[in-house]
Amino acid sequence: MCGIVGYTGFQDAYSVVINGLRRLEYRGYDSAGIVLDGQGAFSMAKTKGKVDDLVAVSEEMKGKATVGMGHTRWATHGVPSDRNSHPHLSNNGKIALVHNGIIENYDTIKIMLTEKGFTFQSETDTEVLVNLIQYFMDLNPETDFPSAVRYALNEVYGAYAITVMHDDFPGLLVVGRLGSPLAIGLGENEFFIASDASPFVEFTKEAIYLEEGHMATISMEHGVDIRSIADNARIEPAIQELKFSLEQIEKGGYEHFMLKEIFEQPKSVHDTMRGRLLVDTGIIKMAGIFDHLERFNNAGRIIIIACGTSWHAGLIGEYLIEEFARINVEVEYASEFRYRNPIISEKDVVIAISQSGETADTMAALKLAKERGAFIYGICNVVDSSIARITDAGSYTHAGPEIGVASTKAFTAQLTVLSMIALKLGKHNGTLGNAEFMSLISELDALPNKIEETLENTHEIVKEISKDFVNSQNFLYLGRGYNYPSALEGALKLKEISYIHAEGYPAAEMKHGPIALIDENMPIVIIAPKKGHYDKIVSNVQEIKARKGKVIAVVNKGDVQVSSMSDYVIEIPETSECFSPIIAALPLQLLAYYIAVYRGANVDQPRNLAKSVTVE
Ligand code: AGP
Ligand code: GLU
Repeated sequence: MCGIVGYTGFQDAYSVVINGLRRLEYRGYDSAGIVLDGQGAFSMAKTKGKVDDLVAVSEEMKGKATVGMGHTRWATHGVPSDRNSHPHLSNNGKIALVHNGIIENYDTIKIMLTEKGFTFQSETDTEVLVNLIQYFMDLNPETDFPSAVRYALNEVYGAYAITVMHDDFPGLLVVGRLGSPLAIGLGENEFFIASDASPFVEFTKEAIYLEEGHMATISMEHGVDIRSIADNARIEPAIQELKFSLEQIEKGGYEHFMLKEIFEQPKSVHDTMRGRLLVDTGIIKMAGIFDHLERFNNAGRIIIIACGTSWHAGLIGEYLIEEFARINVEVEYASEFRYRNPIISEKDVVIAISQSGETADTMAALKLAKERGAFIYGICNVVDSSIARITDAGSYTHAGPEIGVASTKAFTAQLTVLSMIALKLGKHNGTLGNAEFMSLISELDALPNKIEETLENTHEIVKEISKDFVNSQNFLYLGRGYNYPSALEGALKLKEISYIHAEGYPAAEMKHGPIALIDENMPIVIIAPKKGHYDKIVSNVQEIKARKGKVIAVVNKGDVQVSSMSDYVIEIPETSECFSPIIAALPLQLLAYYIAVYRGANVDQPRNLAKSVTVE
């Protein structure tokens, strides 16, 4: 997510930071800010909008300092606004901080600091951290600035990359990292800090990638001093030589944003649960739902509206909510819903799902539901997007910016939110027993590791399989139950980026029509995890093989029956059926990706498609 740039040296810090922020623009952001060492008082500017907007309000800062830092924010806590933009200052105005990530326990620290008299200007989790540093310095005047940062970092949990400056310590930058990336560029008589090496690769080829749980103090006098945040132990820096091109760095070394985003899913799913899923105490803490539990429970029905991939997530949401919370759910294409004079009552709860939060069809359908008195709830990835703003309540997916047009990590993050909503509602209204609830939430908690394992184990196999289907004209995707929508999503991914015609079907529907298409030239992807109508799927595979179709089976590790009949086998780890779409999505995304790559298609920007469809 988003970006940090810092500089200390002999060049004009303003120019280095602004140019560096431009290099990080590809990461997606909604606001930007900069602070310079001002000898006596910081000079600072920040604004909602783009780096150009920041330049428009800060140009007079140019040429005035050789130390400074900047930030591009992708809002997670509080809307994109001038006030919520970084840097954030401590109450005494002496400490400035920029942060990427999420401080999970910011609310309890905020209460503690408020009791001590601290006040807050923004809604961010970040402002809590900068004041916690001041708190430790106030507590004991002997405490030096880097130690106070360290104490504060030991109190917070979540994910962060931070850079901090203190007005009484000119020329000193303190950085730290846990979960979010940070690199230090080592120039001649200058140091750079950035979320990746792209802002400084033109100045130096030497960099230190700060490791998890490490912090560093950086100054011209003392160079780079790396310590462990936990115990202050000194750490020998590992200096790396940068060999990447600028473009490669921007994509984190991946060839396309889509592949990068596929591989980000262990983190994006984890980030979506961060601070919400508290396994030890058996709590799902989602303010959006918590404040409206009764509204949900008393709903005559829940209507989910969305388009494309988000609509597929909605279908899985229907299975989840009906199974665990026993509330009637209908899933609608936003475009159909709005034009067919739907029956909506004030008792209805309408959930809109949208990555961008800007999809015109979804927005229009929501407005209609709102006019007719329904309670409207949003599941969006982009904070303060149009849909997020018109809903009565909602839960953000914290997948981070999704750049590739084909949605990948946003989809699995949407499923994560829907799972938490379904389990929370089921627990609350007593349709889900405590033992099952506890076992499901610990499974949910284990998903990021399973996602990682799946990506590792299927990547090369899927890449190989893809080579055999470069010239295919058609594809069928089949699944049952929770994995029927997985089949739809797998097919959509393939057609979007490879331009191969693909259809998804509930496996049992095959015999009602599509079976006529099957011959030795028809590849059929079957999603057949052990839990979920497995025996029925076995029969479907038999029907396909009798007609010489080519079967690519996505099965659980150790599977025998379906595997022995299939031409290609992709093994995924076992999960409860309700979570299997999250795992099954991964090899299907990779399959679409590699087939498209081998066909020479423009994977990140497929023809005729836009990332957010803001027209009807
Ligand atoms: C997904 O790969 C597509 N590009 C598309 O179907 C997308 O999911 C749809 O346009 C909805 O977008 P949204 O989630 O931003 O509302
Ligand atoms: N959680 C912080 C905020 O919302 C930082 C977000 C980011 O990574 O840019 O301000």
